[in-house]
Amino acid sequence: MKWGIWATIAACLQLASGGEQAQLDGLHQKGTFKSGSCCPVLRLFLPGKVFAADEPPYNESLKSYWSVQEQELHPRCIVRPDSSNDVSLAVAILTAGERFIPGRCQFAVRGRGHTPWAGAANIENGITIDLSNLNQVLVAEDKSTVTVGPGNSWHRVYTEIVPQGIVVGGGRVAIVGVGGLVLGGGVSFFSPRIGFVCDTVKRFEVVLASGKIVNATQAANTDLWLALKGGSNNFGIVTAFELEAIEQGDFWGGFIGFGESTFDAQFVAFEALTAGNPEYDPYASLIANYVWNATSQSWYSANNFEYTRPQPYPEVFANFTSLPSTFSTMRISNLTDFTVELSASNPAGQRQLFSTGTYHNSAKMMKKVYEIANDTVRDLNGVSGVKYSLSFQPEPVILLEKAKAAGGNSLGLDPAEGPLFNFLLTVTWESASDDALVSQKAQELYTRSETAAEGLGVQNKYLYLNYAAEWQDPIAGYGSDVKTSLQATSKKYDPRGIFQKQVPGGFKLFP
Ligand SMILES: Cc1cc2nc3c(=O)[nH]c(=O)nc-3n(C[C@H](O)[C@H](O)[C@H](O)COP(=O)(O)OP(=O)(O)OC[C@H]3O[C@@H](n4cnc5c(N)ncnc54)[C@H](O)[C@@H]3O)c2cc1C
Ligand SMILES: *[C@@H]1O[C@H](CO)[C@@H](O)[C@H](O)[C@H]1NC(C)=O
Ligand SMILES: *[C@@H]1O[C@H](CO)[C@@H](O)[C@H](O)[C@H]1NC(C)=O
Ligand SMILES: *[C@@H]1O[C@H](CO)[C@@H](O)[C@H](O)[C@H]1NC(C)=O
Ligand SMILES: *[C@@H]1O[C@H](CO)[C@@H](O)[C@H](O)[C@H]1NC(C)=O
Ligand SMILES: *[C@@H]1O[C@H](CO)[C@@H](O)[C@H](O)[C@H]1NC(C)=O
Ligand SMILES: *[C@@H]1O[C@H](CO)[C@@H](O)[C@H](O)[C@H]1NC(C)=O
Repeated sequence: MKWGIWATIAACLQLASGGEQAQLDGLHQKGTFKSGSCCPVLRLFLPGKVFAADEPPYNESLKSYWSVQEQELHPRCIVRPDSSNDVSLAVAILTAGERFIPGRCQFAVRGRGHTPWAGAANIENGITIDLSNLNQVLVAEDKSTVTVGPGNSWHRVYTEIVPQGIVVGGGRVAIVGVGGLVLGGGVSFFSPRIGFVCDTVKRFEVVLASGKIVNATQAANTDLWLALKGGSNNFGIVTAFELEAIEQGDFWGGFIGFGESTFDAQFVAFEALTAGNPEYDPYASLIANYVWNATSQSWYSANNFEYTRPQPYPEVFANFTSLPSTFSTMRISNLTDFTVELSASNPAGQRQLFSTGTYHNSAKMMKKVYEIANDTVRDLNGVSGVKYSLSFQPEPVILLEKAKAAGGNSLGLDPAEGPLFNFLLTVTWESASDDALVSQKAQELYTRSETAAEGLGVQNKYLYLNYAAEWQDPIAGYGSDVKTSLQATSKKYDPRGIFQKQVPGGFKLFP
């Protein structure tokens, strides 16, 4: 056994430094992986960082997924690396193991686990690499960048940096994770000023399929840097993100509630705001939420308005704020506080579905989506604990233009297509027995919306990856040019297709 250990260490270190695969060939005969799983080998090399079902950290890790569907998957073991070297070693062992015991060392990569659908960041009978201990937050001396680990919640990031008078583009909800959000694009309160969160990444530190650790920047591994700006978990495990920081003080934000009678006026106001007059006001951030009340069988809205300057009731929101309201939490406060407020409406530990669409800016289209939802939601009346809401978010031209200035991204969004708006459906419910019906009704809303969009001539191919349901294909939504170049980048950095086949979860590049 001892020989096996040292041979594996040597092989892994070789691998980690980009060495020869041949180094591993002796291991099979020596039975290093004879247990039929990679877990015992991982445990030997990463003592205290690998947990099986009978150990408390295993359950803690599972319980900390946002959706119950992800919590319900049971990996053979969960690895919690403390450093990029640990991640490198884990990847080297897993890829070696898979050669000797095919199908037994499949793995999942987890940031903070906020993707709702089962298998995006967890894996039944595989190995889950839980990055939650990679939670560094390092502010550069000149405060121009902040380097953050993928396992942070945005709350932790903001708690560290907001008191220093700076912010980064990041999640608007405190509990959400860094890893997935940045790699799928990322929309922040500051997006109209600085672009998608991925546009603000100066450097990714990545563990490749070989175990090698590299930096991807605009100057080095440029193709990988571009691919990671939207490419999710298809290229490697990102162990650090160096994000551009901006100076920011307190600003104005919160929620305002409205009744259903205001909806038509709101859709018109949304279209005017998104189009800009003549340009979009870069300080304006809006999440227009239309919420189904299953008890009263009626709708209300609870819109999140943020204006990222300390200015109450700016003109840009006047078409909304002049409507009769039912409640308001508007105030001047700090980023951390606003994201904590948003967390309250998104608690963890429930069954959840997200699905999404993107359309050209159009009040008529918003109304169509609302009417179709109003029609289909009634079929969910028998679903216990059902919560159902539609969220519309502006994607103004100035947001889409930021990518180019930042050196490009992989989202495939051409500013000439804009302005657009994003549509997110969120459904929450209690029982697994309703999963199929909920999914069917969400698909019905999506398909009927696409048909309506065709009728209005407002279709757009883009699907925001971080809001996409399992049955959607956001990589195709980037367009065939981007997809082809992502596939080429995958072949270059991951020639064996580890992140395509051995990491089956998430949205993949190859069919
Ligand atoms: C309550 C709530 C609020 C949200 N608010 C926002 C918001 O304001 N703005 C926004 O843009 N999005 C938002 N989202 C969507 C969010 O971006 C996604 O859920 C995102 O996946 C969260 O990242 P995570 O690390 O928690 O997810 P995970 O589920 O852990 O990861 C998502 C995917 O990324 C991969 N991945 C994660 N980390 C890494 C890594 N380091 N290296 C390689 N692959 C990795 C995983 O394998 C997985 O496939 C919100 C989601 C929720 C549930
Ligand atoms: C983990 O959770 C399972 C299921 O809830 C339970 O049966 C088991 O005892 C728990 N294990 C530990 C170590 O807490
Ligand atoms: C942010 O706002 C909250 C709520 O008002 C307050 O408790 C906290 O101290 C503020 N933090 C900073 C850095 O200003
Ligand atoms: C990546 O860049 C950081 C910051 O410049 C540096 O400290 C680190 O050594 C680099 N890593 C590699 C593998 O080049
Ligand atoms: C408010 O609505 C009017 C009428 O639709 C429109 O002309 C104007 O541009 C809107 N204002 C803003 C700031 O969106
Ligand atoms: C939903 O409707 C019920 C019954 O009319 C009402 O009591 C409740 O306050 C409503 N909930 C919300 C969040 O508006
Ligand atoms: C919503 O559906 C109800 C019940 O079918 C219907 O009475 C109502 O007019 C619909 N509202 C809209 C805006 O379509």
